[in-house]
Amino acid sequence: MSVTNLNIAVVGATGAVGAEMLRVLEERNFPFSGLRVFASSRSAGKTVTCKEKPYTLETLEGADFSGLDIALFSAGSETTKAYRKAFNDAGCIIIDNSSAYRMAGDVPLVIPEINGEDLKGHSGMIAVPNCSAIVLLMALYPIYKLTPVKRVVVSTYQAVSGAGAQALRELTEQTRDVLDGKVVTPTILPHRIAFNLFSHNTTINDEGYNGEEWKVIQESKKILHDDSIAIGVTCVRVPVERAHTESINIEFMGERPSLEAVRSALGAFPGVKVVDDRAANHFPMPIDASGKDDVLVGRIRNDISNPNAIDIFASGDQLRKGAALDAVQIAEYLVEHDLLTKK
Ligand code: A2P
Repeated sequence: MSVTNLNIAVVGATGAVGAEMLRVLEERNFPFSGLRVFASSRSAGKTVTCKEKPYTLETLEGADFSGLDIALFSAGSETTKAYRKAFNDAGCIIIDNSSAYRMAGDVPLVIPEINGEDLKGHSGMIAVPNCSAIVLLMALYPIYKLTPVKRVVVSTYQAVSGAGAQALRELTEQTRDVLDGKVVTPTILPHRIAFNLFSHNTTINDEGYNGEEWKVIQESKKILHDDSIAIGVTCVRVPVERAHTESINIEFMGERPSLEAVRSALGAFPGVKVVDDRAANHFPMPIDASGKDDVLVGRIRNDISNPNAIDIFASGDQLRKGAALDAVQIAEYLVEHDLLTKK
């Protein structure tokens, strides 16, 4: 890295993704000289730790953002919308984990291993894609580059921490309550999650797709620069603490590649690890993906129902590669490619 005096901020530093951002900054030894941490008024004055130093949480209201170079946001769309101008006017680039600006024409939506190039010419707002889209594309892209893809059909098994720190607490408390024979009343998630699963808790649109499914479809096309790829998705919330898992059917334009070629393309791709042990029946699992940077991909097999298709199964930590790690990798890309000034 060429820059060592960066001043950065984490907005939403007490949340599930924000806390992970602090851990990733520390683990990757991201070269900041100053760090400011923001949360809501509920947390103001408390401290969080990064690189073994305590940082006091500030509120955004009335704060002076001058001197900041990069802010990693994960405090919801409304917060991003409300503070975009103030941060950008202060010369600070926002890398935003919310969906506020992901589909905006002037906002790069980036998975650095796939479309880092899109960061060139950014105008101060950069979006981190939806976590399910990231897990899908990390598994799909190496295969997509190998052989042109016509259609993808995805079913997700999404961890509760994707709905935030409070939802994760609800899973733990509810599970204990169910085991204790108590009556449970969901408060954060719309339905009981302990020993249950349900269609993703986002609004259903006129087409019958929920918000999460729609994001996966639209964002994947934007990241791949491919409007012609057909994508069908069903998103489901499951009682897993962490890491999203996805069953992915890939239909090619013509003849499908050999499984050997698929396996080696996946194995060679940075950020992907092949976990595909048929003899041991060991394939990607959320408990193996949790806390890891790599997206695990396995169950690589020909689709016996379609001569031009294959099936794969992927699991990735949605708080890490699906959010915090992707954000920090974008920041690293900006530093490494001298893209810290907005166009
Ligand atoms: P707080 O913990 O003080 O509520 P999650 O998605 O895990 O629920 O986390 C949401 C994050 O966004 C938390 O850090 C939360 O802070 C933060 N947040 C919510 N509203 C605001 C706001 N108006 N300004 C700054 N941070 C906010």
